[in-house]
Amino acid sequence: MSINKKKQDNKDIKLGLVLVLVIILSTVIMLQKTADLVKDRRASKFETIDSRIEPFGKVNMPSSGTVESVAVINSIEKSETIAKVYTGSEIYNMACTACHTAGIAGSPKLTDTLNWEPRIKQGIDTLRAHAINGYTGLAGYMPPKGGRLDLSDMDINNAIDYMLSQIQQ
Ligand code: HEC
Repeated sequence: MSINKKKQDNKDIKLGLVLVLVIILSTVIMLQKTADLVKDRRASKFETIDSRIEPFGKVNMPSSGTVESVAVINSIEKSETIAKVYTGSEIYNMACTACHTAGIAGSPKLTDTLNWEPRIKQGIDTLRAHAINGYTGLAGYMPPKGGRLDLSDMDINNAIDYMLSQIQQ
């Protein structure tokens, strides 16, 4: 009986040891897992803080050549409003028609071929200089660039070419 009891005791001790081992092992595993979790959470927390406190805008110099800045610069260079070149008739209709179509203020009408003959004889350079710089003749006052000083000399020259092409018809 006592031998049986001893055997039983030994079994109990073994079982106890196994249990203790299992408990220790699972505790170690749990601790390890918890440590990993905390580490992960910390990392992600710092990540969001970084993204939250990062500067609002970034300086985007053309020289840095980022895709967006190059695209923006290209679109500006190709912009129609900046590169817009008006034709002679467009300029005429914007800046000259007010006087020259109806002959206002003594201006020679486009249809008045006789009036234009002596003017054309002066030569194209004089016509251009008179229209660009303005002049006062016998008939009246021709304001510089017809009052549209924002137009280029080239614009005025194109308008004169258009006027002459209309007169000679
Ligand atoms: C405010 C009215 C007015 C506007 C606007 C005007 N002109 Fe004139 N222009 C005149 C008058 C007036 C004369 C004639 C002046 C004279 O010979 O006494 C004249 C004459 C001219 C002549 C003849 C110059 C010469 O040597 O005989 C040309 C070329 C001319 N204009 C071009 C233009 C062009 C181009 C525009 C538009 C950009 C323009 N004008 C807008 C009033 C105007």
